[in-house]
Amino acid sequence: MASPSPTGARVLVASNRGPVSYSLADSGELTSKRGGGGLVSGLSAIGPDADAVWVCAALGDGDREAARRADGALPTEDTGGQRVRMLDIAADVHADAYNGIANSVLWFVHHMLYQTPLEPAFDAEFRRQWASFEAYNRAFAEALAEEAGEGAAVLVQDYHLVLVPRMLRELRPDLRIGHFSHTPWAPPEYFRLLPDDIAAQVLSGILGADRAAFLTQRWADAFTECCHAVLGPGIPSGTRIGVHGLGADADFLRKRSHEADVDERMAALREQIGTAPDGSTRKTIVRVDRTELSKNIVRGLLAYRHLLEDRPEWRERVVHVAFAYPSRQDLAVYRDYTAEVQRLADEINSQYGTPGWTPVVLHVQDDFARSLAAYRLADVALVNPIRDGMNLVAKEVPVVSDAGCALVLSREAGAFEELGEDAVAVNPYDIVGTADALHTALTLPEDERAERGKRLAAAATALPPAKWFLDQLHALES
Ligand code: F6P
Repeated sequence: MASPSPTGARVLVASNRGPVSYSLADSGELTSKRGGGGLVSGLSAIGPDADAVWVCAALGDGDREAARRADGALPTEDTGGQRVRMLDIAADVHADAYNGIANSVLWFVHHMLYQTPLEPAFDAEFRRQWASFEAYNRAFAEALAEEAGEGAAVLVQDYHLVLVPRMLRELRPDLRIGHFSHTPWAPPEYFRLLPDDIAAQVLSGILGADRAAFLTQRWADAFTECCHAVLGPGIPSGTRIGVHGLGADADFLRKRSHEADVDERMAALREQIGTAPDGSTRKTIVRVDRTELSKNIVRGLLAYRHLLEDRPEWRERVVHVAFAYPSRQDLAVYRDYTAEVQRLADEINSQYGTPGWTPVVLHVQDDFARSLAAYRLADVALVNPIRDGMNLVAKEVPVVSDAGCALVLSREAGAFEELGEDAVAVNPYDIVGTADALHTALTLPEDERAERGKRLAAAATALPPAKWFLDQLHALES
C-alpha cells in the first residue's frame, strides 16, 4: 500500500487525454495547445488556489518530449494554471490500451457498433492487448496514489480507465474515488459479448470507486443491470450510482461565436452556400462531428440524398454543411469511414449539383471558429448518432444559432432526455424517417421554430460544465 503524500493534491482528475497537447518542431521547439471540452472548463471552476492535479497520458512525440523535459509536472502557463502530470507510457503499451482495447473493444461495446459475422473476435491478440490495458491503468493508479494527499478526492474519467478505481483503492484506501462514464453504457445482452472474466473485471474495476457516475439515468440503469447480470444481484454497498448531465457553456459560446474570426468564416461559408435561383437565401442543414462511426454521418448523408430525391422542391434551395473532423486515424475502420463520408458527399454533389449549387459543403479540417460560424448560420442541426453518451453539438447549436435553429435529434443520444420534447426525433437507422424529419425541420413555421429554439437553448444550458464538475466533487465529498 502506498502511503499518503503529506503535501499531495486535494483534488485529482485522471483522463487519457489531458487539457493540453504539445507538438514538436524539427528545431526541437515545443508548442502547446490547450484543449476544449466540459472537463477543461469544469476543472477551472474550482479556482486557481485549489490544490488540484490532472493526470493524463502523453499522446504522441510532442507530449512525450514535453513530459520528459518537464520531468512530470508541465509548466502551468501552458495548462491554464493547472498542475498537469503527463504519464510517459511506452508507445506500444499505450497503442494496445487506447487503440486496441479502449477504442476497438470498449467503445464498440458501449456504442453497439460490432458487425457480425466477423466482429467481435476475442482472440489471443485481444488477450495480449488486455495485458497492456491493465499495465496502462496501473500506471495511472500508481501516479494518482503518489500525487494524492490524505483523503483527497479523485475523479477518474471514462472507459479508458475503468480498472483504475479498484487498483487505486488497493493502493490508497483513504481516498474518495469517483468514476465518470462519458459514453453510453451497453445493455447486459450486448455487454456480455465481452468474455466473462473481462466483463467482470470492467465492472469490478469501476465498483472500486465510491461513486460511479453517468451522463443520463438510462446509462446508469444499464450499468446496474450489467452488474446484476455479470456479478450477481446488488451493487456493493460501498459504491453509489450518480447521474450528472452535462450542458453547453453558454457564456463562453455566446462570446466566442461573435469574435472576428467567426464573422470571417461566416462570410466565407455564405459564399459557398450561395443563393437560390429565385434570389432567396438557401436553407442550411448543419452537422459538426468527429468522423466517428457512432456519429452516423454516412446515414445522415444518405438521408439528405433521399430528401433531394424524394422532394425535388428542395433542390437548389438547401445546402448540407457537414463538418467531419479527423478522429482515431490509427484505426483502419475509422480511415475507411472517413473515405466513405468523402466519397458519398462527392457522389451527391455530382449527382445533384449544378453550376451555382453545391448540395453538400464538406469540411474535414478541424476549425473551431468555422464550426461556430456554421452553428450561427444553421436553420436545422442534424445530430443522428447511433448511440451517444450525451452529444454536446446538440446542445451548442441551439445556443449559438442566430435565428434559433430546429434540431433533428437521434432518440439514442443522451441529450434526447433533456431536448427530446422540442427536437424532431429520429431513429438513427431509419434513412427515410431521417429524410422526413429533415423536411419537417426545414418547414417548421418561423414562430414555432423560434419558440422551440428558445426552449432548446434554455434546456441545453441548464447544466453548465462548472456545475457538472462541482456537483460531482461535492457528491463525492459528502
Ligand atoms: O465520449 C467519450 C470521449 O472520451 C469524449 O470525452 C471525447 O470527446 C471523445 O471520446 C474523444 O475521444 P479521443 O480522445 O479518442 O479523441
